[in-house]
Amino acid sequence: MKKITIAIDGFSSTGKSTIAKKLAQALNYVYVDSGAMYRAVTYFAIQKGIISNGEVSIEDLIKALPEIQISFKYNEDLGFSETYLNGENVTKAIRTMDISRNVSRIAEVSEVRQKLVEQQQEMGKEKGVVMDGRDIGTVVFPDAEMKLFMTATPAIRAKRRYKELIDRGEEVQYEDVLESEQRRDLIDSTREDSPLKRAADAIEFDNTDMGIEEQFERILAFAKRII
Ligand code: C5P
Repeated sequence: MKKITIAIDGFSSTGKSTIAKKLAQALNYVYVDSGAMYRAVTYFAIQKGIISNGEVSIEDLIKALPEIQISFKYNEDLGFSETYLNGENVTKAIRTMDISRNVSRIAEVSEVRQKLVEQQQEMGKEKGVVMDGRDIGTVVFPDAEMKLFMTATPAIRAKRRYKELIDRGEEVQYEDVLESEQRRDLIDSTREDSPLKRAADAIEFDNTDMGIEEQFERILAFAKRII
């Protein structure tokens, strides 16, 4: 069996990472959550006061970039990779509403993208990788053999994210989650550098009315036809 690159892009909370993880496990591929990297930079920027009240000091951010080291380490007990920022495990800390609210402002900075895209390309250079994000099929791996673009209605996506946050113990209102997701999608799809859009050769996959298992079976069957 040949090893391929699988790029999964789409709006927030379209279930990209759930599918990507399952797919990587089934194919014995490496899974890379590129969004976690933008979230880790955002966490760093908040800690250092580089972003406050939604305002980013671009100059300070660019200056601090060489200090930022992001890595992933597979945790056997948990069965997934955890995200590390300068040696600190930030897996949980990067999933809060505060990070979600600010991440798109950090992700539109070209110097940040350049640094992270380089690292993502390095991680995927041997192929046998499933990577999810916003620009994987368009910028990071334009030659990926399999590209998916996931969509679902805004209401169902916000419901999924709301449930995820509540299950994690965060106190959030559904309306705030919906508003934050819509704002993030708007910034992500209208930014100048690498906006979120479907690659011309990506298959669009609307999972509004589809459970995880059905999606997974279909996508796995599709991957197996290519491999
Ligand atoms: O996938 P996730 O929702 O964790 O991504 C968080 C944010 O990181 C996105 O809303 C987007 O602003 C940014 N991102 C990006 N390019 C990627 C992955 C994520 O700009 N490839």
